[in-house]
Amino acid sequence: MLSARKKIISWLLFLLILILPLLMAMSPSGVENKTIQLISLSPSTDLHSFRLRFEVDPLMVYGNKAYFLVGKKDLKEIEKAGFIYTVENNLLRSLLSEPNGRKLHTLGGLNGAYHSYQELNSELKTLASRYKNICRLYTLGQSLENRKILALKISDNPGLVEDEPRVAFIGCHHAREWISVEVPFLLARYLLENYHQDERIKLLVDSSEIWIVPLLNPDGLEYSIINYRLWRKNRRFNFDGSYGVDLNRNYSYRWGYDNLGSSPEPASGTYRGAYPFSEPEVEAIRNLFSNRNFSAAISYHSYSQAILYPWGYINQPTPIEPLLQQLASEMADLIFRVNGRLYEVGRASSLLYLTNGDFTDWAYGYFGIPAFTIELPPLDRLQGGFLNSEQDIDSVFQENLPAALHLIEWAITNYQTSNRPLRPQEKKEVEKESNPVVNNRLRSFFKGKENK
Ligand code: ARG
Ligand code: ZN
Repeated sequence: MLSARKKIISWLLFLLILILPLLMAMSPSGVENKTIQLISLSPSTDLHSFRLRFEVDPLMVYGNKAYFLVGKKDLKEIEKAGFIYTVENNLLRSLLSEPNGRKLHTLGGLNGAYHSYQELNSELKTLASRYKNICRLYTLGQSLENRKILALKISDNPGLVEDEPRVAFIGCHHAREWISVEVPFLLARYLLENYHQDERIKLLVDSSEIWIVPLLNPDGLEYSIINYRLWRKNRRFNFDGSYGVDLNRNYSYRWGYDNLGSSPEPASGTYRGAYPFSEPEVEAIRNLFSNRNFSAAISYHSYSQAILYPWGYINQPTPIEPLLQQLASEMADLIFRVNGRLYEVGRASSLLYLTNGDFTDWAYGYFGIPAFTIELPPLDRLQGGFLNSEQDIDSVFQENLPAALHLIEWAITNYQTSNRPLRPQEKKEVEKESNPVVNNRLRSFFKGKENK
């Protein structure tokens, strides 16, 4: 009897010894030893080539070191590639367990549920390969720091140039407006995932080409994630030592019209650049638009909850203001019905502020198409300004979905001619200026002076 119990106990002890390493691997310090390693690289490291080579974003840049989370198995390869790193075990331990015991989502990095450049690219690649019969991933160009500007074209027969209306959805002209990446990205995912089970989506994808560019300013976004959350421009190193051109002031229509709607000063948040299309990111959009006709476009920004249409450079109506006003109001209605959030509708120059060289003036001014800026939530700075919560991503996308679908359907219904010639690149302007309108509406007190 006794010897049998002893036998069982010694067997149990033996088993415990066997699985002990496994149990240890599951504890926080075990995670750090077995799989994830936090390493730091010294300031002299070529960070750019390190990130390209190992396809990894820094967790943070602090002091004069850049910190990366890598797999333990990657360490050898990193060493082989000649990078000198320090394993930061103590720091990782403290990151993994907050005082209240809640674990940080270390692999989500500082951007949490929002996409970094790498994360977005890999999701776009996955979507493109999963749904290859209804979409195609294009590289429109490269950013200053050599990141790809990707566009997902969604349509039946994605390999063909069909005689169909095209609608463009662009996100993240401005780095700190993270939510503006998520809305067009989620729109792409929604269209692809629902094509086979939703008649309406199938019909609309079959009869149009939907071009989605969720991240126009990848360098800026990365800088906003890692270095300075409120960064706006791209990362151009300007002649005076300052950084950045405002991508939404670098288009050619009435570029630099005055110094109110953009700035000639490189250090300004609205610096227009040295000349129109000086920035490769903006050039990428120019290429997209000069190779094919578009029928409508939306450029997402934040914050303010507004749907804006041209002109931005001067407070005058375009000749198609009634149409722009009607489409914008219809979209605002659809948005309101989802979560009850009110998006104000109006001419960009009078509702928000003057801009020159922005995307929508260019799209309308040279191509004559309805082009909208949608300023996503929140409404004002008191409600977070540029800092949307992770919990808001889905509701902001959900409310913007019917508006986006509506614009696509408008483009389909109003697509007229077949065999139209491609529009020559930024041919002559669609119309001339009329007389200035004097009744400048005062910008809302609450919206403050920040550039959105
Ligand atoms: N908020 C964006 C920007 O500052 C878009 C503005 C749209 N145009 C305008 N005139 N408000 O670039
Ligand atoms: Zn913006």
